[in-house]
Amino acid sequence: MTYLRLMKYPGAKTILIPEIRNILRNSNQHFLLDVFGGSGLVALNLHARRTVYNDIEDELVNIFRVIQERPESLYRMLENLLKSTGQKRGRLTKEFSGSFTHNGAMNTVKNGISSKNEKYRMIDAHQLQKNDQRESSEKMSREERAYLSLYRLSTSFGGMGNTYATANEKSTFRYISKTFDEFPRIAETVKKWKIENMDFRELIQKYDSRDAFFYLDPPYPGKGWYNHNFDAGDFRDLRTILDSLKGKYLMNLNAEDTNLAQIFGKPTFVKSYLNQNGGQNAKQETLRLKAFYTNV
Ligand SMILES: C[S@@+](CC[C@H](N)C(=O)[O-])C[C@H]1O[C@@H](n2cnc3c(N)ncnc32)[C@H](O)[C@@H]1O
Repeated sequence: MTYLRLMKYPGAKTILIPEIRNILRNSNQHFLLDVFGGSGLVALNLHARRTVYNDIEDELVNIFRVIQERPESLYRMLENLLKSTGQKRGRLTKEFSGSFTHNGAMNTVKNGISSKNEKYRMIDAHQLQKNDQRESSEKMSREERAYLSLYRLSTSFGGMGNTYATANEKSTFRYISKTFDEFPRIAETVKKWKIENMDFRELIQKYDSRDAFFYLDPPYPGKGWYNHNFDAGDFRDLRTILDSLKGKYLMNLNAEDTNLAQIFGKPTFVKSYLNQNGGQNAKQETLRLKAFYTNV
């Protein structure tokens, strides 16, 4: 099964999508809140009637807001990047130009890739990532920041954003090339979302209601993968909130973590999945146990 996906991201939940989809369906709810939205992978592939994507990380939220408001800008930057690496993408641009209907987005795309009205400064992302990022990003537009974030995540190992694959390898751009192919469908989906940039406590308080379905995929404790990570106090707050929630929820955690089991108690069910983090060099595939907590 292939899913819509925009970027590489540590902890993205590709493997759990069928389970999450089943539980959402069984809940008979149609209002999905992806509380710790990350790469957006879950919200992109559940197709709920109403979706709120949330993450506390500004960088991610900026990407989705740019896709919602100015998809053509990002699309053109990706296209220019792929062209500069020798990949031919003219036909797709034509297809995409016919598919935009949002916020006048057609205006800059409809003239095709050779438009004279080029509005977006093409930035050399690989060079930029080597420079002082803070200084560079202050001078960038929101579209350029979104492009650089996407580039950084998708060309780094495991989406960690800080260890880079080498830019002269063709395979480096395979991921971006696939994102580019799927971009029109991604933009169509994101267009319908409400995008929030809140701490989970604030978000749940704002949206909790009988028709809400909260999907909760909090940061793994102790990994430090994100700019915003969780400590025991955050998990305890989450437990307190879930205990008095009006809506439905589904949360997944690592079942091996005994500290989390102490806070949240016995999971509703546990499932094992093949560990996908081993990469091509992994000698053995290992099983990871995922604990699911739900009131559905
Ligand atoms: C495990 S990742 C989510 C991955 C996501 N399900 C996916 O498939 O890409 C956890 C996310 O929680 C976000 N986060 C961390 N602390 C948060 C907080 N207090 N409130 C909301 N989001 C937070 C992180 O920025 C990170 O993107």
